[in-house]
Amino acid sequence: MHIGIIKEPDFENRISLLPEGVAELKKLNVEIWVEKGSGLRAYASDLQYENAGANISERSEILNQAQMLLMIQPPAEDVIASKKEGQLIISVVNPFFNKSIVVQLLENNKTVFSLDMIPRTSRAQSMDILSSMATIAGYKAVLESALLLPHFFPMFMSAAGTIRPARLLILGAGVAGLQAIATARKLGAVVEVFDVRSAVKEEVASLGGKFIEVEGASEEKAAGGYAVEQTEEFKNKQKKLIHDHAVKADVVICTAQIPGRKAPLLIEKETVEAMKAGSVIIDLAASSGGNCALTQNEKTIIHQGIRIVGKSNYPSEMSSDASKMFGNNLLGFLRLIIEKTGSLKLDFEDDIVKKTCLTHEKQLINEQYKTFINS
Ligand code: NAI
Repeated sequence: MHIGIIKEPDFENRISLLPEGVAELKKLNVEIWVEKGSGLRAYASDLQYENAGANISERSEILNQAQMLLMIQPPAEDVIASKKEGQLIISVVNPFFNKSIVVQLLENNKTVFSLDMIPRTSRAQSMDILSSMATIAGYKAVLESALLLPHFFPMFMSAAGTIRPARLLILGAGVAGLQAIATARKLGAVVEVFDVRSAVKEEVASLGGKFIEVEGASEEKAAGGYAVEQTEEFKNKQKKLIHDHAVKADVVICTAQIPGRKAPLLIEKETVEAMKAGSVIIDLAASSGGNCALTQNEKTIIHQGIRIVGKSNYPSEMSSDASKMFGNNLLGFLRLIIEKTGSLKLDFEDDIVKKTCLTHEKQLINEQYKTFINS
């Protein structure tokens, strides 16, 4: 089989597979073509790819000939329009927010696996790109807030006086939130954490965070560990609790998300305006609407002295390790669908294959997405 690694758009510094990943993938007896210059922003040269056993090619050649295309960002128009029959695309389509791309992929008869749809099960843990990228986001968010804050993070006792430690409020204790707690604690900050899932209480405490909660959250076992939409009464109590803690915080890190839906609004404009001047809000939910009412995706704004950072692609800023982690997850998935002889093995009885597949033979495959698109 011929596999093509496609160059990412200019705003994306990561690459789906680094040269070290290419060397691993070659063990499955496949041929690998890499689009010229694709790895440069992740510090991988064409020569390193060649030494790992790949051929460097022009984009058009790869699109016309590869049986499988690997990329991180959703497929661009020329990828969707490629005429190579039976071509398979592996990407992170973010389908709930990119419905028109999915429709075009269906129309063009592409078989598409979207790595953000990989089930969050123990068996699929090694392929879980959402977790690895969220780990980076949580870490980077805290580091960026520490750089922007006009205060120290740790407590400081010196001849010039005592400086109290910074106070962080972290909204959402999923993978990104937990990493943010760990990073902020290492830097010496005092950390408070809010989540609607009571199951995370112990994890928060074990990392040195203080869990703050509102009684009466809706939780559903069927949601597979994810958060679900909350009642209006709960949302009002939640807003008050968050307001009371946010106004005392120096930094708020927002990570609360509900899969496939707009992010919950947790910080109102009035709360921002009641915060201390110089405080920082980092909103990791920016691309799905943000947890803060004033967040603008991919922009940093200053509102009445409060800096609000709406970045949703921190992994791109740590392109080397992010590509390494992404590539390791991707390899885990490829080993599931490529035999050691190099031929493709799509077993739609396999839970991971079925749930990760968005489209195949002009049909939608993932059941959750079918329900979403028909609703
Ligand atoms: P996510 O990115 O979907 O959401 C982040 C956090 O926001 C979650 O903890 C969620 O409960 C919280 N949240 C949602 N609405 C909220 C609200 N209104 N107020 C406050 N917090 C709110 O979550 P992520 O990081 O993708 O993890 C989701 C679940 O998947 C977790 O239970 C996690 O433990 C589980 N998981 C399982 C894995 C496995 O078994 N292999 C791997 C990774 C995660």
